[in-house]
Amino acid sequence: MTANTEIITQQQLEVQREYAEKVRAWWQDRGQTPAAWIDTYGCQQNEADSERMLGMLREMGYTRQTEAEGADVVIINTCSVREHAEQRVFGNVGALTHTKRRHPGQKIFLTGCMAGEGHVVERLKKSYHHVDGVFTSHAQWRLPEILYRALTEGKRQYVTPETGNIVEGLPVQRLGDLKGWVSIMYGCNNFCTYCIVPHVRGRERSRMPEDIKREVEQMVADGYKDITLLGQNVNSYGKDLHLEVDFADLLKMLSEIPGDFVLRFMTSHPKDASKKLFDTMASSPKIAKHIHLPFQAGSDRVLKAMNRGYTAEKYLSLIDYARSVMPEIVLTSDVIVGFPGETEAEFEETLKLVERVGYDALFTFIYSPRKGTPAAELPDPYSRAEKQKWFDRLLEAQNRISQEKHNAYVGRTFRVLVDGTDGEYLTARTDGGRLVRLKGPAEWIGSFRNVTITGNTTWSLLGEEKED
Ligand code: SAH
Ligand code: SF4
Ligand code: F3S
Repeated sequence: MTANTEIITQQQLEVQREYAEKVRAWWQDRGQTPAAWIDTYGCQQNEADSERMLGMLREMGYTRQTEAEGADVVIINTCSVREHAEQRVFGNVGALTHTKRRHPGQKIFLTGCMAGEGHVVERLKKSYHHVDGVFTSHAQWRLPEILYRALTEGKRQYVTPETGNIVEGLPVQRLGDLKGWVSIMYGCNNFCTYCIVPHVRGRERSRMPEDIKREVEQMVADGYKDITLLGQNVNSYGKDLHLEVDFADLLKMLSEIPGDFVLRFMTSHPKDASKKLFDTMASSPKIAKHIHLPFQAGSDRVLKAMNRGYTAEKYLSLIDYARSVMPEIVLTSDVIVGFPGETEAEFEETLKLVERVGYDALFTFIYSPRKGTPAAELPDPYSRAEKQKWFDRLLEAQNRISQEKHNAYVGRTFRVLVDGTDGEYLTARTDGGRLVRLKGPAEWIGSFRNVTITGNTTWSLLGEEKED
């Protein structure tokens, strides 16, 4: 455990439970059942954090609703990864003046990654007087206290510690009943030069393997079938623990838990992905044959300027190895177009890499300067319009590749998890997350089925259960 990590004790949590009880009593005294809405932006880390905050709110007697209108508390769990995400949040926070006018007791809070940016907090303080408080993700475990103080002190609450922590034993209200998240670590140590995440989420902190195992066992007992292990860079799991356990070991240990379920994980950083990881994936039927392995750029010069710690060749050799042990593996990735100074020829190396790998899906972003990151200080000579042209070329190439991959599913058989119905068909997902529609009884929902793909449309595959 590094000096950058604060371990929250059960005693500290007990204090929060007392605050939760006080909030519950506050509402009981008024004969009311309060309602809460959490508006979640950004990645799965935020979704997982929101589920923990919902768990705390439930303990405080709040029911969950899915809009701001009439809610007694609104929590905006924000993302700062790109400018556009922040603008949307500011717009939506602004609009809450209206819901608050109609329901004056409404308490409005902002948390998540934007709360970790000093200039955002200053702007909220100065110009958004209807916001009752701001707290960083590191302070979410103190929600009962923050809420109680906001209800009883009538002043704005700012709780913005910068030191990351590990909190075990928080309640959680999971929003899915078949699919769920488990955070295995928090924060990031990589400092890719374009990225704000390490600045707002703190340094890497790994949970203890036995705590993770207990949570996964409980989820399996509760009927979860699809469990995603979360971290910004799961491949560096355990490095801060000084135990003889790495991510592949953790994955293996969890895959040995008895029960019918599939494990997946994100995100993986190529710098730390190992052959051992791919061998572990290949060896267990419970680990989804899918890896999201962001490469960000195809040019070695750009990769270096991004501080990614690998070359295109090293990346491609990882992909080749993964495919040699799992020929059916589904590959997805993130790419940034237009990093400061990236030339058209360098962008074309990205295109080349995309063609060479043949991803099932690609998440493509135009570079967005983030205040406080080194890349934001670099000269950025290419116009947005130019970058947009490159971006469109990339999208066009990927759409073609995705369609080819999609067509190639026809005639093959997959084990899918049936997760619902669209009225006419049952809906199911492959290991790689592709939507399959099939005919069958509603009792199949929540079970794995072997399905042969018989046809496809642009967005989904059609399948039939394979008779044994
Ligand atoms: N930890 C994950 C990614 C987290 S952010 C990883 O390292 O893979 C998700 C994606 O957003 C990144 O992979 C990157 O492609 C993109 N991204 C991050 N910062 C960005 C920025 N400043 N501009 C554009 N895209 C960015
Ligand atoms: Fe950001 Fe890089 Fe960390 Fe991912 S690995 S969160 S891109 S700094
Ligand atoms: Fe966004 Fe924070 Fe996730 S910046 S992508 S919500 S870690």
